[in-house]
Amino acid sequence: MTEATQKMQQRVEELRKLLQKASYEYYVLDAPTMEDSIYDQLYRELQDLEQKYPELITLDSPTQRVGERPATQFQSVQHNIPLYSLENAFNFNELKTWQDRGQKIATNSSKLPTYVCELKIDGSALALTYENGILVRGATRGDGITGEEITQNVKTIRSIPLKLEGENPPALVEVRGEAFLSLTVFEQINQERKQAGEALFANPRNAAGGTLRQLDSKIVAQRKLDFFAYTLQIPQQDNLEITDFQTQWDNLELLQTMGFKVNPNRQVCSNLEEVIKYCEYWDQERHNLPYMTDGVVIKINPLSLQKKLGFTQKFPRWAIAYKYPAEEAPTQVKSVTVQVGRTGALTPVAELNPILLAGTTVQRATLHNRDRITELDLHLGDTVIVRKAGEIIPEVLRVLLELRPKDAKRFEMPTHCPECGQPVVQPVGEAVTRCINESCPAILQGSLIHWCSRDALDINGIGDKLVQQLVSKKLVNSVADLYDLTVEKLMVLDRMGEKSATKIMNAIATSKTQPWSRVLYGLGIRHVGSVNAELITQKFKSVEQLTQASATDIEGVYGIGPEIAYSVYQWFNLPANQDLIERLKLAELQLANSEKINYNIINRSQYLAGKTFVITGTLPTLKRDEAKKLIQNAGGKVTESVSKKTDYVVVGEEAGSKLKKAQDLGITLLSEEELLTLL
Ligand code: IVH
Repeated sequence: MTEATQKMQQRVEELRKLLQKASYEYYVLDAPTMEDSIYDQLYRELQDLEQKYPELITLDSPTQRVGERPATQFQSVQHNIPLYSLENAFNFNELKTWQDRGQKIATNSSKLPTYVCELKIDGSALALTYENGILVRGATRGDGITGEEITQNVKTIRSIPLKLEGENPPALVEVRGEAFLSLTVFEQINQERKQAGEALFANPRNAAGGTLRQLDSKIVAQRKLDFFAYTLQIPQQDNLEITDFQTQWDNLELLQTMGFKVNPNRQVCSNLEEVIKYCEYWDQERHNLPYMTDGVVIKINPLSLQKKLGFTQKFPRWAIAYKYPAEEAPTQVKSVTVQVGRTGALTPVAELNPILLAGTTVQRATLHNRDRITELDLHLGDTVIVRKAGEIIPEVLRVLLELRPKDAKRFEMPTHCPECGQPVVQPVGEAVTRCINESCPAILQGSLIHWCSRDALDINGIGDKLVQQLVSKKLVNSVADLYDLTVEKLMVLDRMGEKSATKIMNAIATSKTQPWSRVLYGLGIRHVGSVNAELITQKFKSVEQLTQASATDIEGVYGIGPEIAYSVYQWFNLPANQDLIERLKLAELQLANSEKINYNIINRSQYLAGKTFVITGTLPTLKRDEAKKLIQNAGGKVTESVSKKTDYVVVGEEAGSKLKKAQDLGITLLSEEELLTLL
C-alpha cells in the first residue's frame, strides 16, 4: 500500500466512524449531535473516496446501506435456530393458566420467577446475523424454519447497526426483533399511494412486511423502516452452562449497548398482578405511541428457567402474547357500493349496519378489490367481522359463514363502470378492476379534484360539488379547460354569483404561479406522489427535458425505481397527454423550474464555511427555511439565537429582540437582497 492510499484509508475510517456515531445518535438515541448538512458533506466525501478507491469499501460502510441494484428474487435461507411464534392469551384468565403451568414445571427452583413485559410491536420479524461484529445476513421469519434473505433491504434500516458497538464482539451473534413503520410514515405511504392511485396497505404490519420484501432496496430506503431488537442469541454462550443470574432483561440491556434500539417501555414484573397492571396500562396508553402495538409479550426473566421450560411443537413455554381487547366486531353487510377513483380503479365498499369500533361509529368498510372479494366469498346480507384500528380505514376481515342468510346472493364485481357504463378491464396479475374510458366522468372528476388539491395546484374554492357541476354541465373536459373558464361561464352554475365566480377565477389564475414540481404532481401520473414529483423535477428542470427522457434516464433520479420511471415515461409518450401539456403551456403554467433560484441545488463551493447566521423577522420573498437552505448549501451555519459568535443577522420585517441584540453586539446586518448578493 502506498503512503497516499494509507492516508486515504485513514480518512475513510475516520469518516465511517464519525458517520456511524452520528447515525446512531440520530436513529437509535433520537438525540442528533451532527447537523444534517455536515452529515451530508461527510457522507459525500466518503462516497467520493470509496468511488476512487473501491478496495477501501467495507460491508459496514454507511454508504452500503442503500442497495444500488434491485434484486431479481430473494434466496431462501434456513434459520439455524427456528423462529417460534407465540401462544396468545386473550384475557387475564388465560394468562393465569399460562403462569400456573410455568410455575408447576419450575417448582424445584428455589424462587418464583420474575417476568419481563415488552410491548408486542406490530411489524415484521427479522433475524440478523453478525459475524465478528459485522452484519452479514438479514432474513425474514418466513415459516419460522425457512425465511428469505433480504440483507440488502435490512441494510437500509438506519436503526440496525451494520457493525456492533464495543470491542471484541463474539464470533457469531444472532439478533431478532421487529421491523416496523411508525404510524406517521405508514399514513404518509398510504397517502402517497392514494395520490398515485395505488392500492392502500391495510395496516402498518402489511406495509412493513411488503416493504421488506420489495425487490428494489431504493424503495425500501425511502420507506423509513425502524427496528426494535428483542432477542439476543450467542451460540457460543448457549452451549455453556447458563447461570441463574442471566436474564432476558440483561440481554435487552446488552442489545442496547451493542447499538440496537430496544423498546424503552419494558418492565420487570415480580408477579402476575404486576403483569396485568402493565397490560392494562398499555392497553390505554398505546394510543399515544407513534407506532402500533397489538399486545404485550410476557417472558420469564431468568434464562435458566427459560431453558428448563423449553418449547412445545410451536411455542416457547416461557413466553406468551397478551392481546389487547379487540377493535373488531361483527355486523351485517346491507349492500356493496363501488367507487371509481381518478385512476379508474374500482373499489368495492361494504355498507354496514352501524357499529361502534375503537371509539368511532363505522358504517362503511373497504373490501379493497376483486381478489379480496373472491377471498372473502362475500354474499349480500353476510355478517362480517369489521376491524378499525387507530387511523386505519375500517376493513372487512372475514365472513361468519354460519350466519349467512339462506338464498343470499354472492356479490360480483361489476363488468361495467358504475359511473360511465363502459366495460371495465381486469389486468392480468393485478387485483384491481379498472375503468379505462378516457372520458369517464368519475375519472375526470377525480383528476380535477386532484389537480386543485392543496399539495398540487392549490386552487381554493373548487371542491367536490363544483367539480361535479363543471363536469356534468360539460364546461370542463380536462384540467386544461379550467384555464378557459370565465366569470360568465361559471355564473351558469347553481348558486354561483359574480363575487364567488371572480374569486374562483382569481384562484385559477394564481395557480399559474405554482412551481413545475406541483404541476407534475397535479397531472396525477401513477406512482408520482408529491415527493417523487419533487425528486423528478430537480433533475428534469423542464417539461421538455422530461418528455425527451427515456425510462432509464428517469430511473437515474435518486429514489425513483423502475416502475415509477416507466410510468412517467409512458405518460409523456401518449399523444393525448402531449396535447394536454401543449394546452397547459398556452395557459402559461409553470412547466420549468423558475430561473430565480433553485433552493435544492447543492452548492458544492462552501464559501460561507465557518460563518454563522441568524435569521429574524419575515423576509420579503424567501421563506425562512429557504433562506436557511441557501446559507447551509454554501457551507454556512444557521442558529436560533444571536451571540458574539454570530457573523451575520439577516433581518426581515417585524424583527424583534434578535435585531436589538445584534445591534448591541455590533453584528453585521443583512437584508434579504444583501444576503442574495453575498450568496
Ligand atoms: S418474542 C420465541 N418479543 O410477535 C420468542 N416477539 O407471534 C418469539 N413480536 O413473530 C418472539 N414484538 O414478530 C417477541 N417484544 C417482542 C415482540 C415480538 C413483536 C412479534 C414477533 C413474533 C410474533 C409472535
